[in-house]
Order: sequence, then structure tokens, then C-alpha cells
Amino acid sequence: MKCFLLLVLVIGLDLSSANSIPSYNHYRLPTALRPQKYYLRILTLLESPDDLRFVGNVQIVIEALKNTRNITLHSKNLTIDESRITLRQISGASNKDNCVSSTSVNPTHDYYIMHTCEELLAGNVYKLGLPFSADLTRQLFGYYLSSYKNPVTNKTRWLSATQFEPSFARKAFPCFDEPGFKASFVVTLGYHKQFKAISNMPVREIRKHESLQNYIWCEFQESVPMSTYLVAYSVNDFTFKPSTLPNGALFRTWARPNAIDQCNYAAEFGPKVLQYYEEFFGIRYPLPKIDQMAVPDFSAGAMENWGLVKYRESTLLYSPNHSSLADKQDLANVIAHELAHQWFGNLVTMKWWTDLWLNEGFATYVAGLGVQKIHPEWDSRDKSSLVALMASFRLDSLVSSHPISRPIRMVAEIEESFDAISYQKGSAVLRMMHLFMGEESFRTGLKEYLKLYAYKNAEQNNLWESLTTAAHQNGALAGHYDINTIMDSWTLQTGYPVLNITRDYSAGTAEITQERYLRNSQIPQADRVGCWWVPLSYTSREENDFNTTAPKAWMECSSTDEGVPTIIDHQAGPDEWLILNIQLSTPYKANYDARNWKLLIDALNSKEFESIHVINRAQLLDDVLYFAWTGEQDYETALQVTNYLRRERDLIPWKSALDNLKLLNRILRQTPNFGSFKRYMKRLLTPIYEHLHGMNDTFSSMPQQDEVLLKTTVVNVACQYDVSDCVTQAQAYFRRWRAEANPDENNPVPLNLRSTVYCTAIGQGTEEDWNFLWTRYRKSNVGSERQTILSTLGCSKEVWILQRYMEKSFDPKSAIRKQDSSLCFQAVASGQVGFLLAKQYFIENVELIHKYYYPQTRTMSRLLTPLSEQVSTLSDLKKFRSFANDSRQLLKGIRQAMQQSLETMLTNVQWMDWNYHQFSRTIRRHL
Ligand code: BES
Ligand code: ZN
Repeated sequence: MKCFLLLVLVIGLDLSSANSIPSYNHYRLPTALRPQKYYLRILTLLESPDDLRFVGNVQIVIEALKNTRNITLHSKNLTIDESRITLRQISGASNKDNCVSSTSVNPTHDYYIMHTCEELLAGNVYKLGLPFSADLTRQLFGYYLSSYKNPVTNKTRWLSATQFEPSFARKAFPCFDEPGFKASFVVTLGYHKQFKAISNMPVREIRKHESLQNYIWCEFQESVPMSTYLVAYSVNDFTFKPSTLPNGALFRTWARPNAIDQCNYAAEFGPKVLQYYEEFFGIRYPLPKIDQMAVPDFSAGAMENWGLVKYRESTLLYSPNHSSLADKQDLANVIAHELAHQWFGNLVTMKWWTDLWLNEGFATYVAGLGVQKIHPEWDSRDKSSLVALMASFRLDSLVSSHPISRPIRMVAEIEESFDAISYQKGSAVLRMMHLFMGEESFRTGLKEYLKLYAYKNAEQNNLWESLTTAAHQNGALAGHYDINTIMDSWTLQTGYPVLNITRDYSAGTAEITQERYLRNSQIPQADRVGCWWVPLSYTSREENDFNTTAPKAWMECSSTDEGVPTIIDHQAGPDEWLILNIQLSTPYKANYDARNWKLLIDALNSKEFESIHVINRAQLLDDVLYFAWTGEQDYETALQVTNYLRRERDLIPWKSALDNLKLLNRILRQTPNFGSFKRYMKRLLTPIYEHLHGMNDTFSSMPQQDEVLLKTTVVNVACQYDVSDCVTQAQAYFRRWRAEANPDENNPVPLNLRSTVYCTAIGQGTEEDWNFLWTRYRKSNVGSERQTILSTLGCSKEVWILQRYMEKSFDPKSAIRKQDSSLCFQAVASGQVGFLLAKQYFIENVELIHKYYYPQTRTMSRLLTPLSEQVSTLSDLKKFRSFANDSRQLLKGIRQAMQQSLETMLTNVQWMDWNYHQFSRTIRRHL
């Protein structure tokens, strides 16, 4: 009876209000229709602070591919005036009116469904007109509001901006919001004449508004066919710095007027790297212009909209007086990344978000090449390769990681895919391909792929096909191998392998086997299955060839996908070391037998350590520290490797070591044996600290830029471990700054030491020190400086100051912009006192934090990283587990990140159980 009533109720509802019952509930749009062109008109009202909104009309030219009686497209939080919807058939001889009889919505998938009066017939073209409007909100997606203070009048200036990727174009106008529906766009923006407008294309015409006084319509040229997530526009009162491209395209860099002098570097670097890509990809940049714009409120680091790339201020603006070399390199990298997307992503787009990595992995990899080309002195290719490898090793050693190519069913899942797997592992496997195929085949294959799929969509198999053809033509790959089989083992499988290498010292051979590498050492052998096609490159002490990355052999997988043990004939003598994986060209870990480790340790701890390639030195450190963590090696072996760092003067191995040692620091620093670890670190760091002249300002006399970064990095850890005079010098610098009459104009702290100096001084300092730095933050006009300050304000050890800071960071009314709040929380959570508070704060305020970020969950998931690195007791782990369980709803968008955090915490607990005592004993022997 109850059931029957319910049924009647449901049916009844269906009849009376067609609006809320979804008639179509699949997560992808139906394929009966294809949009060809959008005429998009939007009037933006920015004058009165309590009436900030937009009113629009979109005319979509739609081709029917199949007969259908409905038009289903995306629309979210838009008010659509149904009575004014128009529909007309515009093809063929009979140009006739059709109409919409009723509409319904499906809120789960953001669908707006129009039922048509007459059936739409395959082959015909229709024009659909939809009037819509919405408020401009302060959320950082869709068509939204940003602001800044005019420093002269101290008045708030409003501007509008867009952020559509991955699925927010639907919040700005009704559209077929999937990457596969490419169409051309004619954008027309209406606004008060005190403003300017920019969009993807150049302006075609400006005319007066037909009725609103002082308003104008600005029409832009028709775009090339493109996906909705790349559409962009903005109404603002910015100014720009022009640069000219060699091929004649207009290149402009936009910022608020008071920051325009910080655009010089971006205006100089942008065109250079764009030109490099034109050569690299063999295709001209196809639009007549490109703008890059610094938006004061921006959620992503930057966004590659075609012809109108948007950035945070901190990733586009550079001030020689306020930004460090690391800031400058970061911003070059971001620009190079976004401009690479103009080809990889914009010209050729993934069919569906499953292949997001084609966009992000490529842009990440190619950015390293682009920056290398423009600034060879930065050595950025090797550095960014190492960063990518290390980040993917870390995440991908978790059972809760995921394959590069990942099925996507929900909008929330798309957002989750913008992670280290898509970016860093994606980049690492592309580099692997580049290095095993060689320059010629890689470039030819890429060019072919881009030419074939220009203005269209592609999936990874399409790329594999082009590359296989090129590699076979060039003889870079044996005829019976194909890229498809090799690469699928890397992109469709989660994880990466560890290769176990057992040498036969008399025969000059070695046997190699593989299995999945996992950080959780309790996972049984049977669950470490998997097989990866591994290009085998190696060298020995005698041969010493660290240049040839082309494989000497391959580790293959059987037809049942099992690893086939492989014998290599390496010819190394019994007293020579053997190293696999030249320049870490493939993302796997290499474990050797004890005798080979001994030979490597001897080489590293001798004068000849530099005969091993710098990336391979980083590899040995990273591998042995992982193996010691998971029990494949003991800490005695690991420390014998790290001991050689007393000789090391290169940034790359130091980065590798410090990242790993930081993890030990994070779980040891709340334990009674931390003292020994601290002493050990001091011992390692002292020689290099002294070699670099400690905290003294020696930057101007440095012959190599690389040394600047090395010093920045070393000094930063040196102060944490109280090396030599680091802390007292840092405090002295800070005192000198505080004593300045005009500290916002004059800052005596060397640019590249500022982060260390601020953090150290705040960590040891008073409330006045904190307030002083906070005031500098409020007065600063430079994005990167503001970020440095926000990250160092969290270094305090005062409980109440940290609590106040965390509250500020999630308060919409505070001086901290939403985009920066995660920086503050992360800074607090990374501190030894702050961690305990942040842990508590997160658990107690998860609802508030969720509300603050939703639905942009990517930022929220970042809050977990510093927490997961430090939780190392069983009781804390249990607390987090039940918290995760109880707050399932609030943590929905960060489900994957939460699982990964819990697994990381578990491996920390395991470490404490199994390694803590062994490690403590061993480290004492090395003091
Ligand atoms: N396409 C992304 C921006 C993006 C990220 C949109 C996440 C939607 C969700 C852009 O190309 C990007 O990758 N930005 C990076 C910075 C980049 C230099 C690594 C980012 O935002 O982290
Ligand atoms: Zn990107």
C-alpha cells in the first residue's frame, strides 16, 4: 500500500511539475545534436556594489545528427527566461519556426532540457536562442567578481573574470559543456564605458548600447573551433604592456594599473617561449593575438584560455626588488606551461576528461623544455624532471593512487584528476618516451599528431599511433614493438615497478626482475603484481656513459601480463659499480644486491663521486631512502649513501635527499630521539653551509645561477637544524628590517633569503614581530612577496597567534584572499607546534572549511598533505579514520585525497613500529 502511494506520488509529481524529474540521467550529453557556433552577448553590471550581475543572450547554431525531440545542454545557477526562448530551423530551403513546449532540469548533471514542439531532424541546422542572467559571485569559478583597492583613492575597484575549466562555462551561459563539443564563438560584451573588455579574440567592433546611456557593446572576432572550457572574457580597468611576436601576432600583458611595472618579465618571456613552441610543434600560433592577464582573485595557478591566458598575480608579475630567483623561475615555468597548452589542449583537445593527462602531463613536460631553451643557465629541464619523478614516486607508491588514464563519471571526479598523477607522472612518462625514442622520432610523431587532430579531439591511442609510425620510420623502435603496448603499461596501470638487480660477478651479467613498488610494506607479494615495459639503459664505472638514454635492452611483459625475468650482459668487471636507468629516464626504482650497493657507496664517498651523473646521484639517494623506509634495505646502507652529501655541491641530489629527510623529520620531531637526527642533519649540512658562506649576502658574486637556488635551499634547512650562525644571522637581518624608518620601501634582507629570514625570525619572535610582518603583507603590492609572507607567518610557535592566523585564513572578510588561504593553513600545519593545532582545527572545523571551498575541492585536498606527513601514532590514525568516516558527506569532493592521506599516515605508523629503534641506533653510529 505504502509503495503504491509512493508510486502515485512520483507519477503525480511527474505530471504536475515536469521541472524536477530528470528525463535523461546519463553523465554525458546525448549525441543527437552538435553545436557549431555560439553568438554570446553578455551585459556586465559593475557600477553599483550591491547590484553586480550579468544579463546575457546566447544564440547557438546546432546541427542535428539524429532525429530528436529534445535539446539537452548544461546550465548551472542561471536564470533562464523560458518565455523568451526561440528555436528556428535555419538550414535547407525551409527556414521555419520551431518552438520549445516545455523544459525540465536534471540538477545532478546540470542539465537543462528543452522539449521541442516539432521533432528536430537529422541533417538540419537550427538556431536556439536563450536569454539568461545571474549574479556575479565571489566564488572563483564561472563568470565571477574580483576586486582590488586603488591605492590613491583607497576605493575598491571591481572587475569580472572567468574560470571555466573543467565544467563551469555552464555557470556563465547555457552551453554544451563537454570538451568534445568544439564550436566557434562570437563573443559580444556590454559594459559601462569606463571599463575595457578582453576575450579570446581581438575586438571587431565597438558600438553604443542601444538603450543604456554610457554603455557600449564590444564585439570580438569569431574564434576558431574550440571547447567551452577555453572561452574567456573579462571586464576591467586594467592597463597592458605590449610586446610583439615575430610572426606579427599581438602579445599583451595586462594587470591593474598599479602593478603594470611588474609585467616586464612576463612580456619579455612569453613571446620567446611561444616562438620556441612554434618551432618545436611545427605549427604557427593560430590566433591573431594573445593576452595574458593577472587576476587579483584566481583559484588555479593559471589558466590557458585560448588567446587570453589568466594568472594569479603571483604567477605572472615579477618585481626585481621584491621577487626571488625561485619566484622568477616559477613564473617562467607557469607561463611556459600555459603557452604549451595553446597547442596541447587548445588546438588538440582530449575527447573526454579521462585523458586529462594529455593536456596537463604534456604542458608540464614541455614547459621544462621551453624554460630550458630560454634560460639555459637555470638548468630547468633536469630540475623539473626530478621534481616530476619525485612527486609521482611518492603518490604512486600508494595502493590508493590511480592510473594516469582514469575513467570519469562525475564532475567531482574531473576536479580530482588535476593531481600529481596527471601532471607529474604524466610528464615523467612523456619524458621516458622522449628519451627512449630519441629527439627525431619524438618530434616527428608529435608534429604529425598535432597536424592530424588540429581543431579536433583525440585520445591517447591517437598519440601512440603517430609516435609508433615515427619511431618505426626512424628505426628508433624495433618493428615488432609498438608504443601502444609499451605505454599502456604505464598509463592504464596504477603504480610503478621496482627492479631487483642481481649481478653475476664472474659472468658480467645481471638478472633483473620486477614487481610493483608499494610504501605499505604489509601488502603481500601476491598483491604486488603488475608488469611494466621497461627500457633498460645502464652503465658501469669503466664505460661511464651517462648520455645514452636509448635502451640497450627491454624488459618485456608476457601475453598474460607477467614480468619476464631478464638477463643483461653488462660487461662490468667484478669491482666496478653498475647503475641502471641513465638520468632516471624511466620512472622505476632500482634495487641492487649488497655488493653492488657497496661499490656504489664507495664511489659516492670518494673523490670520483662526480663521475656518476647528477640525476643518478639524486636517484641513488631517493631509492635507498625509500628502500630503507620500506625495509628492502637497512638504514645503515641508506646512511652510508647520504653521508656522501658532505661532498655534494649540486642542487639536484640535495633536493632529492632533503625531500626524503624532511619526511623523517616530520615523524621524528615529536619523539625523544629527535636530538640525534638533528645532530646528524647538522653534520651533513655544515660543510655546504660554510662552502656557500652561510647567510652572508654573496649572491651578486655567484658565477652560476644554480648556486643561488642551492644557497636558498641549504640556508633554509640550516636554520631549521640550528646550523652554525644561521638563526642569529636571520634574526639580525629581521631586526635591521624592523629598524627601518620606511620598511615597505627599504628591506635590507637579501631577496633570496627572505623566506628563511622571516620564518626563522617569526619562529623565535614576539607578537610585535608577527604584527610587523602582517602589516608588511597588507601594504605589499607584489604577489610573490605577499605569498612569501603568508607562508612564513605560519612559522610562529605561539599557540594563540597560530589559532588567530588559522581563523583569519578562512574568514571571507579578512585580508587573505580565498586563493591564498591554503598557503596559510599549510604553513601552520607544517610547524611542530602548528601541526598539533592544525590537526585539531581541521577536524573541528571541517564543515566551515568545506563550505568555504565547495565545489572547488582541489584546494581543500591540499590542506591534508602536511597533516598526513606528520600523523604517526596509531591513536591519531584511528582518530582520522573515524573522522573520515563520520564526515563522509563533507569530504565527498576530496575522497581520493583523504584515502591517500590515511594510507600515508598508516605507513608512518608502520615506520614507527618497525624502524624507529633501528634507525635511532644506526644514526647514533654516524654522529
Ligand atoms: N589547466 C590548468 C588550470 C586548472 C587547474 C583548471 C585545475 C581547473 C582545475 C592550468 O594549465 C594549470 O595546470 N595550472 C596549474 C599551474 C601550472 C603552472 C602547473 C595550477 O593551477 O596548479
Ligand atoms: Zn595545465
